[in-house]
Amino acid sequence: MAISRKKTLKLSNVKVRRQDKLAIGGLDLEVPAGELHVLMGPNGSGKSSLAYALMGHPSYRVVSGSVSLDGRRISGLGPDQRSVLGLFLSPQVPPEVSGVGLASVLRAAVNRHRPKPADAASFRGELLGALEAVGLPPSFADRNLNENFSGGERKRSELMQLLLLRPKYAVLDEIDSGLDVDGLKTVAEVLEAVRRSGTGILLITHYGRLLRVLKPKRVHIMIEGRLVRSGGPKLAESVESSGFRGFLVQGKK
Ligand SMILES: Nc1ncnc2c1ncn2[C@@H]1O[C@H](COP(=O)(O)OP(=O)(O)OP(=O)(O)O)[C@@H](O)[C@H]1O
Ligand SMILES: [Mg+2]
Repeated sequence: MAISRKKTLKLSNVKVRRQDKLAIGGLDLEVPAGELHVLMGPNGSGKSSLAYALMGHPSYRVVSGSVSLDGRRISGLGPDQRSVLGLFLSPQVPPEVSGVGLASVLRAAVNRHRPKPADAASFRGELLGALEAVGLPPSFADRNLNENFSGGERKRSELMQLLLLRPKYAVLDEIDSGLDVDGLKTVAEVLEAVRRSGTGILLITHYGRLLRVLKPKRVHIMIEGRLVRSGGPKLAESVESSGFRGFLVQGKK
Protein backbone atom coordinates (compact mmCIF):
# COMPACT_ATOMS: atom_id res chain seq x y z
CA MET A 1 0.00 0.00 0.00
CA ALA A 2 1.33 3.48 -0.86
CA ILE A 3 2.05 5.54 2.22
CA SER A 4 1.71 9.32 1.93
CA ARG A 5 4.70 11.52 2.90
CA LYS A 6 2.37 14.23 4.22
CA LYS A 7 2.85 15.33 7.83
CA THR A 8 0.08 13.28 9.30
CA LEU A 9 -0.74 10.44 11.66
CA LYS A 10 -2.61 8.03 9.45
CA LEU A 11 -4.53 4.87 10.27
CA SER A 12 -5.56 2.74 7.32
CA ASN A 13 -7.98 -0.13 7.83
CA VAL A 14 -6.56 -0.78 11.30
CA LYS A 15 -7.77 -3.87 13.13
CA VAL A 16 -6.76 -4.33 16.76
CA ARG A 17 -6.94 -7.59 18.65
CA ARG A 18 -7.05 -7.80 22.43
CA GLN A 19 -6.60 -11.33 23.71
CA ASP A 20 -8.86 -13.37 21.43
CA LYS A 21 -11.25 -10.52 20.60
CA LEU A 22 -11.31 -8.00 17.79
CA ALA A 23 -11.36 -4.69 19.70
CA ILE A 24 -11.13 -2.36 16.69
CA GLY A 25 -12.50 -3.44 13.34
CA GLY A 26 -11.08 -1.79 10.23
CA LEU A 27 -10.59 1.84 11.19
CA ASP A 28 -9.50 4.70 8.91
CA LEU A 29 -8.48 7.96 10.56
CA GLU A 30 -6.08 10.76 9.75
CA VAL A 31 -4.85 13.45 12.12
CA PRO A 32 -2.68 15.95 10.21
CA ALA A 33 0.03 17.95 12.02
CA GLY A 34 -1.38 21.06 13.71
CA GLU A 35 -4.99 19.80 13.80
CA LEU A 36 -7.16 18.87 16.76
CA HIS A 37 -9.38 15.84 16.22
CA VAL A 38 -11.79 14.51 18.82
CA LEU A 39 -12.84 10.91 19.42
CA MET A 40 -16.08 10.31 21.30
CA GLY A 41 -18.05 7.16 21.99
CA PRO A 42 -19.93 5.29 24.70
CA ASN A 43 -18.13 3.62 27.61
CA GLY A 44 -16.51 0.41 26.45
CA SER A 45 -16.59 1.29 22.73
CA GLY A 46 -12.83 0.84 22.30
CA LYS A 47 -11.39 4.36 22.47
CA SER A 48 -8.71 3.57 25.05
CA SER A 49 -7.94 0.27 23.31
CA LEU A 50 -7.23 2.25 20.14
CA ALA A 51 -5.05 4.71 22.09
CA TYR A 52 -2.98 1.86 23.56
CA ALA A 53 -2.69 0.14 20.18
CA LEU A 54 -1.40 3.37 18.61
CA MET A 55 1.35 3.57 21.23
CA GLY A 56 2.30 -0.10 20.76
CA HIS A 57 0.97 -1.61 24.00
CA PRO A 58 1.64 -5.36 23.67
CA SER A 59 -1.89 -6.32 24.81
CA TYR A 60 -3.54 -4.31 22.01
CA ARG A 61 -2.03 -5.60 18.79
CA VAL A 62 -2.58 -4.09 15.36
CA VAL A 63 -3.21 -7.31 13.45
CA SER A 64 -3.92 -5.77 10.05
CA GLY A 65 -3.88 -2.43 8.29
CA SER A 66 -1.23 0.18 8.97
CA VAL A 67 -0.40 3.13 11.19
CA SER A 68 2.01 5.67 9.73
CA LEU A 69 3.60 8.81 11.17
CA ASP A 70 4.71 11.37 8.58
CA GLY A 71 4.79 8.59 6.02
CA ARG A 72 6.77 6.14 8.13
CA ARG A 73 5.02 2.94 9.06
CA ILE A 74 5.10 2.57 12.86
CA SER A 75 2.68 -0.31 13.44
CA GLY A 76 5.52 -2.79 13.90
CA LEU A 77 7.60 -0.66 16.29
CA GLY A 78 7.79 -0.77 20.08
CA PRO A 79 6.48 2.05 22.33
CA ASP A 80 9.95 3.56 22.85
CA GLN A 81 10.66 3.85 19.14
CA ARG A 82 7.23 5.39 18.55
CA SER A 83 7.94 7.92 21.27
CA VAL A 84 11.30 8.86 19.74
CA LEU A 85 9.57 9.33 16.37
CA GLY A 86 7.25 11.86 18.03
CA LEU A 87 4.18 10.03 19.29
CA PHE A 88 2.86 10.71 22.79
CA LEU A 89 0.10 8.99 24.74
CA SER A 90 -1.51 10.36 27.85
CA PRO A 91 -3.38 7.31 29.19
CA GLN A 92 -6.87 7.54 30.69
CA VAL A 93 -5.45 6.35 34.03
CA PRO A 94 -1.78 7.38 34.25
CA PRO A 95 -0.03 4.64 36.24
CA GLU A 96 1.60 5.24 39.61
CA VAL A 97 5.30 4.37 39.53
CA SER A 98 6.39 4.22 43.15
CA GLY A 99 9.98 4.97 43.99
CA VAL A 100 10.70 6.52 40.58
CA GLY A 101 11.25 10.28 40.54
CA LEU A 102 9.14 12.33 38.14
CA ALA A 103 12.12 14.59 37.34
CA SER A 104 14.47 11.75 36.38
CA VAL A 105 11.87 9.98 34.22
CA LEU A 106 11.02 13.19 32.41
CA ARG A 107 14.62 14.24 31.93
CA ALA A 108 15.42 10.88 30.37
CA ALA A 109 12.35 11.13 28.11
CA VAL A 110 13.10 14.70 27.04
CA ASN A 111 16.76 13.92 26.35
CA ARG A 112 15.82 11.05 24.05
CA HIS A 113 14.13 13.64 21.84
CA ARG A 114 16.96 16.16 21.77
CA PRO A 115 20.27 16.21 19.93
CA LYS A 116 21.91 17.97 22.93
CA PRO A 117 20.88 16.47 26.29
CA ALA A 118 19.84 18.80 29.11
CA ASP A 119 21.90 18.52 32.31
CA ALA A 120 20.14 18.09 35.64
CA ALA A 121 20.31 21.79 36.61
CA SER A 122 19.02 23.22 33.32
CA PHE A 123 16.32 20.57 33.13
CA ARG A 124 15.15 21.44 36.63
CA GLY A 125 14.61 25.03 35.47
CA GLU A 126 12.51 23.82 32.53
CA LEU A 127 10.56 21.47 34.76
CA LEU A 128 9.74 24.20 37.28
CA GLY A 129 8.51 26.42 34.45
CA ALA A 130 6.29 23.64 33.08
CA LEU A 131 4.92 22.82 36.53
CA GLU A 132 3.95 26.45 36.99
CA ALA A 133 2.31 26.53 33.55
CA VAL A 134 0.00 23.65 34.50
CA GLY A 135 -0.72 24.90 38.01
CA LEU A 136 1.33 22.37 39.98
CA PRO A 137 3.56 23.53 42.86
CA PRO A 138 7.39 23.30 42.59
CA SER A 139 7.40 20.51 45.21
CA PHE A 140 6.20 18.16 42.43
CA ALA A 141 9.72 18.29 40.98
CA ASP A 142 10.75 16.11 43.95
CA ARG A 143 7.78 13.69 43.88
CA ASN A 144 7.65 10.17 42.50
CA LEU A 145 5.78 9.65 39.23
CA ASN A 146 2.05 9.84 39.98
CA GLU A 147 2.62 8.42 43.48
CA ASN A 148 -0.27 9.63 45.65
CA PHE A 149 -1.16 12.25 43.03
CA SER A 150 -4.83 13.20 43.11
CA GLY A 151 -6.87 12.50 39.96
CA GLY A 152 -6.62 16.10 38.77
CA GLU A 153 -2.90 16.31 39.62
CA ARG A 154 -2.24 13.28 37.42
CA LYS A 155 -3.95 14.99 34.51
CA ARG A 156 -2.06 18.23 35.09
CA SER A 157 1.16 16.21 35.23
CA GLU A 158 0.32 14.61 31.85
CA LEU A 159 -0.26 18.07 30.44
CA MET A 160 3.10 19.16 31.79
CA GLN A 161 4.76 16.21 30.02
CA LEU A 162 3.07 17.24 26.78
CA LEU A 163 4.49 20.74 27.20
CA LEU A 164 8.00 19.48 27.86
CA LEU A 165 8.10 16.81 25.16
CA ARG A 166 6.33 18.74 22.38
CA PRO A 167 5.57 15.56 20.40
CA LYS A 168 4.59 15.58 16.74
CA TYR A 169 1.33 13.78 17.56
CA ALA A 170 -0.42 13.43 20.91
CA VAL A 171 -3.18 10.98 21.83
CA LEU A 172 -4.84 12.35 24.95
CA ASP A 173 -7.23 9.94 26.63
CA GLU A 174 -9.68 11.93 28.77
CA ILE A 175 -7.12 14.54 29.79
CA ASP A 176 -10.11 16.70 30.77
CA SER A 177 -11.45 14.26 33.37
CA GLY A 178 -11.30 15.03 37.09
CA LEU A 179 -10.08 18.59 36.61
CA ASP A 180 -11.37 21.64 38.45
CA VAL A 181 -12.59 24.69 36.53
CA ASP A 182 -9.14 26.31 36.46
CA GLY A 183 -7.59 23.01 35.38
CA LEU A 184 -9.95 22.81 32.40
CA LYS A 185 -8.98 26.32 31.37
CA THR A 186 -5.32 25.33 31.60
CA VAL A 187 -5.93 22.25 29.44
CA ALA A 188 -7.63 24.40 26.81
CA GLU A 189 -4.76 26.92 26.79
CA VAL A 190 -2.01 24.31 26.65
CA LEU A 191 -3.70 22.25 23.93
CA GLU A 192 -4.26 25.33 21.80
CA ALA A 193 -0.61 26.42 22.23
CA VAL A 194 0.73 22.95 21.45
CA ARG A 195 -1.53 22.58 18.41
CA ARG A 196 -0.49 25.98 17.08
CA SER A 197 3.14 24.94 17.36
CA GLY A 198 2.35 22.06 14.97
CA THR A 199 1.36 19.06 17.09
CA GLY A 200 -1.50 16.95 15.75
CA ILE A 201 -3.84 16.02 18.60
CA LEU A 202 -6.33 13.18 18.97
CA LEU A 203 -8.38 14.07 22.04
CA ILE A 204 -10.61 11.38 23.52
CA THR A 205 -13.33 12.98 25.61
CA HIS A 206 -16.86 12.54 26.87
CA TYR A 207 -17.58 16.24 27.19
CA GLY A 208 -18.18 19.15 24.86
CA ARG A 209 -17.04 21.83 27.33
CA LEU A 210 -13.42 21.95 26.07
CA LEU A 211 -14.60 21.82 22.49
CA ARG A 212 -16.60 25.01 22.79
CA VAL A 213 -13.28 26.79 23.35
CA LEU A 214 -10.97 24.67 21.19
CA LYS A 215 -13.03 24.17 18.01
CA PRO A 216 -11.76 20.80 16.75
CA LYS A 217 -11.19 20.29 13.05
CA ARG A 218 -13.09 16.98 13.12
CA VAL A 219 -15.13 14.97 15.61
CA HIS A 220 -15.27 11.18 15.20
CA ILE A 221 -17.79 8.86 16.82
CA MET A 222 -16.76 5.32 17.75
CA ILE A 223 -19.32 2.61 18.42
CA GLU A 224 -18.28 -0.96 19.11
CA GLY A 225 -14.77 -0.48 17.77
CA ARG A 226 -15.80 1.23 14.53
CA LEU A 227 -16.02 4.85 13.44
CA VAL A 228 -19.64 5.39 12.53
CA ARG A 229 -19.62 9.14 11.87
CA SER A 230 -17.16 12.01 11.41
CA GLY A 231 -18.10 15.65 11.24
CA GLY A 232 -17.41 19.17 12.45
CA PRO A 233 -17.70 20.55 16.00
CA LYS A 234 -21.51 20.44 15.82
CA LEU A 235 -21.33 16.66 16.01
CA ALA A 236 -19.99 16.95 19.58
CA GLU A 237 -22.87 19.27 20.46
CA SER A 238 -25.41 16.78 19.16
CA VAL A 239 -23.78 13.99 21.22
CA GLU A 240 -24.00 16.20 24.31
CA SER A 241 -27.68 16.92 23.76
CA SER A 242 -28.90 13.55 22.46
CA GLY A 243 -26.30 10.98 23.52
CA PHE A 244 -25.19 8.12 21.27
CA ARG A 245 -28.60 6.56 20.64
CA GLY A 246 -28.84 7.97 17.13
CA PHE A 247 -25.58 6.28 16.18
CA LEU A 248 -26.13 2.87 17.73
CA VAL A 249 -28.10 1.28 14.89
CA GLN A 250 -25.50 2.26 12.29
CA GLY A 251 -22.78 0.93 14.58
CA LYS A 252 -24.20 -2.60 14.88
CA LYS A 253 -21.97 -5.17 13.26
N1 LIG B 1 -7.01 -5.77 28.94
C1 LIG B 1 -8.31 -6.02 28.83
N2 LIG B 1 -8.84 -7.21 29.20
C2 LIG B 1 -10.15 -7.47 29.06
N3 LIG B 1 -11.04 -6.61 28.56
C3 LIG B 1 -10.59 -5.41 28.18
C4 LIG B 1 -9.20 -5.04 28.29
N4 LIG B 1 -9.06 -3.79 27.82
C5 LIG B 1 -10.27 -3.38 27.43
N5 LIG B 1 -11.21 -4.34 27.65
C6 LIG B 1 -12.64 -4.27 27.32
O1 LIG B 1 -12.73 -3.75 26.00
C7 LIG B 1 -13.82 -2.87 25.88
C8 LIG B 1 -13.31 -1.52 25.39
O2 LIG B 1 -12.56 -0.90 26.43
P1 LIG B 1 -11.92 0.54 26.30
O3 LIG B 1 -11.19 0.81 27.55
O4 LIG B 1 -11.18 0.60 25.03
O5 LIG B 1 -13.25 1.44 26.19
P2 LIG B 1 -13.41 3.02 26.13
O6 LIG B 1 -14.14 3.33 24.87
O7 LIG B 1 -12.12 3.66 26.36
O8 LIG B 1 -14.41 3.28 27.37
P3 LIG B 1 -14.49 4.48 28.45
O9 LIG B 1 -15.24 5.59 27.79
O10 LIG B 1 -15.27 3.88 29.56
O11 LIG B 1 -13.10 4.86 28.84
C9 LIG B 1 -14.47 -2.81 27.26
O12 LIG B 1 -15.58 -3.67 27.27
C10 LIG B 1 -13.39 -3.31 28.19
O13 LIG B 1 -13.94 -3.94 29.33
MG1 LIG C 1 -11.38 4.82 27.85
